Amino acid sequence: MSSRMKPDFSPEERAAVYRVIRERRDVRSDFISEEIPDAVLGRILTAAHHAPSVGLMQPWDFILIRNFSIRKQIHAHAQSMKDRGDIYEGDRKALYCSLKLEGILEAPLNICITCDRSRTTGYGLGRQSDSMTDLYSAACAIQNLWLAARAESIGIGWVSILDWDRVKQLLNIPRERHIVAYLCAGFVSAFRRKPELETAGWEVRTKISNLLHFDQWENQDRQRADAILGTHDE
Ligand SMILES: Cc1cc2nc3c(=O)[nH]c(=O)nc-3n(C[C@H](O)[C@H](O)[C@H](O)COP(=O)(O)O)c2cc1C
Repeated sequence: MSSRMKPDFSPEERAAVYRVIRERRDVRSDFISEEIPDAVLGRILTAAHHAPSVGLMQPWDFILIRNFSIRKQIHAHAQSMKDRGDIYEGDRKALYCSLKLEGILEAPLNICITCDRSRTTGYGLGRQSDSMTDLYSAACAIQNLWLAARAESIGIGWVSILDWDRVKQLLNIPRERHIVAYLCAGFVSAFRRKPELETAGWEVRTKISNLLHFDQWENQDRQRADAILGTHDE
């Protein structure tokens, strides 16, 4: 049996990885207008492109949207989608209406990430058994981008209150492409400590110990979970 390799991240490097994960936020209220330099943008896009993908399919494309009149049209569409708000009632509806759910105009850059579900790169490896894996791969790329952006002090906001057919129309995206995410990106005045939705009283973070199972679904041992998670489960 081979022996375990020597750790190749220093304690400081490890701490930085966990810090970037913990301090990443979805940003919509705190963007400033300063442009993202190309060198920085290049780094975060490359981080996205280094994501894992099923069969090394790399099903993604990135559309960089700076044009203000296009962003104004996307913003007007997002506003009309939000104004529907008709899925909620009473206090929840009032709270929903008070939420800011996008920063399309405030962020200097928007990024639309698509998934090409028929791309032949990777020869279909891993997709025969689960056809969703191309979409999961694209989501991995987005998370890589999000974390790299945080390390560069760039905020990202994911906007999903959009009708993708309308977005495809506005961005001339071929009908057969699947939009996975529409992101707002830019430097921020500050990163908030907590998710905006938590501060607004919309939802709270669930304890991981409630979500752990041992060997089989029915085994949810809180003591064992607490022993693993210690003080991290906050
Ligand atoms: C797939 C996905 C779609 C999302 N769509 C929206 C959205 O339309 N508007 C919004 O304000 N936030 C959106 N978010 C951000 C979440 O609200 C946010 O991640 C969550 O509240 C936790 O906050 P945090 O990212 O700051 O930790 C989305 C996040 C994901 C992963």
